[in-house]
Amino acid sequence: MKPEKLQPLPGMNDLQFPEILHWQHVEEVARNVFGRFGLREVRTPLLERAELFERSIGDTTDVVQKEMYVFEDRGGRRVALRPEGTAGVLRNLAGRGPEGRAERVYYMGPMFRSERPQAGRRRQFHQIGVEILGPAEPLVDAECIVLQVLLLEAFGLKKFGLRLNTRGSEKDLPRLRRSLRDLLESRQARLCEDCRRRLQSNVLRILDCKQETCQAVVRELPPLDEFMSQESRDYFNRLERALDEIGISYEREPRLIRGLDYYLHTIWEIFHPALGAQDAISGGGRYRVDLGGESIEGIGFALGMERVIEALQAEGAGALSAATDGPQVWLVSIGRDAALANLALATDLRRKGLHCGGEFQSRSAKAQMRAAGRSGAELVIVRGSAEIERGTVVLKDMKTGNEDAVPLTEIVETVLGRVNREAGHDTAGTSR
Ligand code: HAM
Repeated sequence: MKPEKLQPLPGMNDLQFPEILHWQHVEEVARNVFGRFGLREVRTPLLERAELFERSIGDTTDVVQKEMYVFEDRGGRRVALRPEGTAGVLRNLAGRGPEGRAERVYYMGPMFRSERPQAGRRRQFHQIGVEILGPAEPLVDAECIVLQVLLLEAFGLKKFGLRLNTRGSEKDLPRLRRSLRDLLESRQARLCEDCRRRLQSNVLRILDCKQETCQAVVRELPPLDEFMSQESRDYFNRLERALDEIGISYEREPRLIRGLDYYLHTIWEIFHPALGAQDAISGGGRYRVDLGGESIEGIGFALGMERVIEALQAEGAGALSAATDGPQVWLVSIGRDAALANLALATDLRRKGLHCGGEFQSRSAKAQMRAAGRSGAELVIVRGSAEIERGTVVLKDMKTGNEDAVPLTEIVETVLGRVNREAGHDTAGTSR
């Protein structure tokens, strides 16, 4: 097969240096912030029974009906690549008994949706998500939203906005659906074909139809909480009060509904103005999911890593320093014996935590010195047959150009001392 036929599939791509530095940065910051909130990591399979997603996300949602990769495995099971993380995490937590129902977890990894690839929309994309289980309580919702905001701030993002709404309680849903159907039936002619079908199958989905004609109709609808009980409105008011008290700003988006069926009460999206049509960098909400007769409640969110990284770059965080990843010491070997001796020395230095580079093959000294210069290493160790005979190496300081002959017995200590002095830290392992 020709190499061009072996490219990744549409909407799926490789991640590599240097962009991968952004990914590592975002993952590292996220782990740190999650630690402050007492969250533990969970990793669930990428492949699950299709039924898990159909039951939890809802079998009339776009995600399940149009976007899920579903196929039969070799054992004849209907399986799906996970289109989101919540369903698998809830399956896991439900299986852990009563303790699972009070867990606070996070996850990171690839998700799959067979959408038409375009800017901001991939078929394999990556989420960082959080699920905090437990009964509905506005203060827990506030904490989860605060976590979301602190996380984005910790990444270094500044210009994002929060759109907030409520879907009301389970008891409100029949009335909400009925009222919307009544209002929308009279406007049927202006709805797209899909939405005309949705009038019967899942009227709430009309609210997040992407078609402009449908959106124009949606804008004419009253705020959703007009169809909700006083109890649900009180719940939402308590959340708003908590966010005001904590100092989290948000926009009320009275017709926000979100595209997944498991939500109840609080829902939100975080958007970034630099992203164009697909401006949601994150979305979340409170939910209740029925898994095999067991009802499980909680709140959570997931951010799209591709979109967060694009937003970071739009805000000028494009130059995450590749230098922090480069070698501190470079080894130049003249001849095979020197290469073997240097490989042993590099092993000692790496064991001590130093970042070492070098070539353990016989290129000319000149070519190796050029590579040493390009590598950005502060120190270069040069060894040839003369040094092997004397039991020394040449240590070159790349900033000053000074060269010293250092006995082999002292080289590890000397390098550690010099690198630490430069970095101003106590140990090599923590110096970068
Ligand atoms: P979602 O809104 O479907 O929610 O996805 C969350 C985020 O994933 C979006 O805001 C977006 O940034 C990113 N995303 C979604 N689809 C794509 C795509 N095709 N390409 C690139 N990025 C994408 C959920 O998935 C819920 N599970 C969130 C949640 C957790 N709710 C409660 N707990």
